[in-house]
Amino acid sequence: MQEIFNRVSVRKFTEQKITKEQIQSILKAAMQAPSAYNQQPWEFLVIEDKAVLKKFTEIHPYAQSLLSGAAVGIFVLCAKNRLQLPEMAAQDLSAATQNILLAAVHLDLGAVWLGVHGHPERAVAAQKLFNLPDNIEVFSALAVGYPAENRKAQSRYEENRVHYEKY
Ligand SMILES: Cc1cc2nc3c(=O)[nH]c(=O)nc-3n(C[C@H](O)[C@H](O)[C@H](O)COP(=O)(O)O)c2cc1C
Repeated sequence: MQEIFNRVSVRKFTEQKITKEQIQSILKAAMQAPSAYNQQPWEFLVIEDKAVLKKFTEIHPYAQSLLSGAAVGIFVLCAKNRLQLPEMAAQDLSAATQNILLAAVHLDLGAVWLGVHGHPERAVAAQKLFNLPDNIEVFSALAVGYPAENRKAQSRYEENRVHYEKY
């Protein structure tokens, strides 16, 4: 539970690299997410190449964190050929993205979710940039690395948003 309550978006990173093992742990967590009909529509693209990450920031107006020392960009992909319930894919891929954020906290890393889904122009441009096949679409992106900022999470619990038995 502590990962949930300690997580904040991290947008500035030290130059320290992360290991292949750390990346694999993060991706194991991502693939452990629930999915509708257990369709597991995800694939992942991991990019360290700063030149490519810079090109992504030209597509995505709020992705500067990828250039602020992030060790890697992790791109959560939707494999459309794996979809049995296409209308559920966004929920599946959101669960996988959230697992990445929480796994990063667990490993003392920081991360931020960069939204792509819902912005078709970003998804189409990213598909071109990464030379993805037609059946693969970018759903979300994450900048991941060692935090160079130390923002503390604040509780967001609000009793008045909870309704028991009836609204
Ligand atoms: C779907 C989604 C899209 C987001 N897109 C961006 C983004 O493009 N750039 C960014 O810096 N943060 C992005 N964020 C992070 C939010 O800004 C952040 O979660 C929010 O401000 C709350 O702060 P916290 O994560 O530190 O609790 C996104 C978060 C979600 C869930």
